[in-house]
Amino acid sequence: MTDNHNVDQTLAALGATTAEQVVSNFAQVRARFDAEAGANSSDVAQWNAFLVAWTGRKSGVLTKITDNWLKPATPELKRAVGQELNQLKAHIDGVVKEKQAAIEAAAEQAAAARDQIDLSLPGIEHTIGSRHLIRQTYDELLRIFGAIGFSVVEGPEIETPYYNFEALNIPEHHPARDNMDTFYIEGARNGDLLRTHTSPMQIRTMEKEKPPVRIVVPGKVYRRDNPDATHGYMFHQIEGLAVDTDITFCDFKGTVDYFARAFLGPKTKTRLRPSYFPFTEPSAEVDATCHVCGGSGCRVCKQTGWIELFGAGMVNPAVYGFVNYDPERLSGFAFGMGVDRLAMMKYGVTEVPLLFQNDVRFLRQF
Ligand code: DAH
Repeated sequence: MTDNHNVDQTLAALGATTAEQVVSNFAQVRARFDAEAGANSSDVAQWNAFLVAWTGRKSGVLTKITDNWLKPATPELKRAVGQELNQLKAHIDGVVKEKQAAIEAAAEQAAAARDQIDLSLPGIEHTIGSRHLIRQTYDELLRIFGAIGFSVVEGPEIETPYYNFEALNIPEHHPARDNMDTFYIEGARNGDLLRTHTSPMQIRTMEKEKPPVRIVVPGKVYRRDNPDATHGYMFHQIEGLAVDTDITFCDFKGTVDYFARAFLGPKTKTRLRPSYFPFTEPSAEVDATCHVCGGSGCRVCKQTGWIELFGAGMVNPAVYGFVNYDPERLSGFAFGMGVDRLAMMKYGVTEVPLLFQNDVRFLRQF
C-alpha cells in the first residue's frame, strides 16, 4: 500500500530552486511510483488503493504535486515543473493502462476457466445407420414401376379367406391352397388369416376403383414354412396389377422386359415359362438371363444361364367376375415378386436369416 505520509514528506523535502533540481525531483517521484506499482501489482484491491493514492483527485500524489510544486513555482521554474508533471502523468497513465489491460485479461481467463467444459471424456458415439437391404430393394423396385405409371397401394396383413383365396379364383379344397400353408387367426377374427401373398390387394383395389388400374403393392406375407436357409415364415412381396380396355400380352411381355433391364442391367433378356396360378390365365414364370454370367452359365444360375424372377400372367377373366369388371371389355396382367429372393439374388446373399438378424456387420455392406 502507498504510504501517503511518506510521499508527503518526500514532496515537502524536495524543494526545487533550479530546473535541474526539478528534473531530479520528478525522477525520484517517478522511481517511487514505479517501485510501488511493481509492489502492488498482484492483487486487484491493492492496486485500486494504490491508484487512488497516486491519481485520486482530492489527495492523490499528482494533485499534491500540482498544489505544492506547480502552483507555487516561481515564473522561471513553472515551465519546467509543468513539463515534468505532464511527463509524469503520461508515464503513470501508460503504466495504469497496461496494468488495467492485464487485470481484464486475467479476469477473462479466470471466467473462461470457470466456464470451461471438460471435453476430455470419451463421448457417446452415434453410429450412422443405413437402410436395410430389403428396404433398399423395395425402394428400387417401386421406383422402377413408378417410372412407368404404377402407383403404390398397401393393404392389411390380416385377411379374410375371401380376399386371400376365393376372389382370386382359389375355392375351398383347391390344391393351390395346399401350397400356401396358412396361419389362421383365433379369437375375435376367428377364421381369418395372415395373408399368404399380396394378391388380395388386386381384389380390394378393383372393388373400389374403376379401370384403368395400375398398381404395385408392397408388403409382408406369411406362410407356415419351416425356417431354413431359403425360407422364413414371413417374407416380402410386391404385387403388380394393370387392367385396362386394351392391355395385351405384348404389354405384359414389354413390361417384364423393361423391369428386368432396369433391375438387372440393360443387356438382360427374359423368357416366359408356362406355369399355373388360379388368378392368371395364361400364367408364366418370368426368367431373366443371369446377371452374373450374362447367360453363359455359372454357379449363381446353376449353369443354366437363367434365373427365375417372379410369377405372372394375364388376369384370369374369372377374377373380374368377383369385382364386377366386364371381362368382355377389360384385360390385364398381374405379377407377384418375392422381394427377399430378388434382393438375395442381386446382392449375392445366400442365407435368409441374415436378412433378419440385425447384425450390422452384415447390413452395413449394402
Ligand atoms: N401370389 C403368387 C404367390 O405368392 C405370386 C403371383 C403369381 C402373383 C402370379 C401374381 C401373379 O399376381 O400373376 O405365389
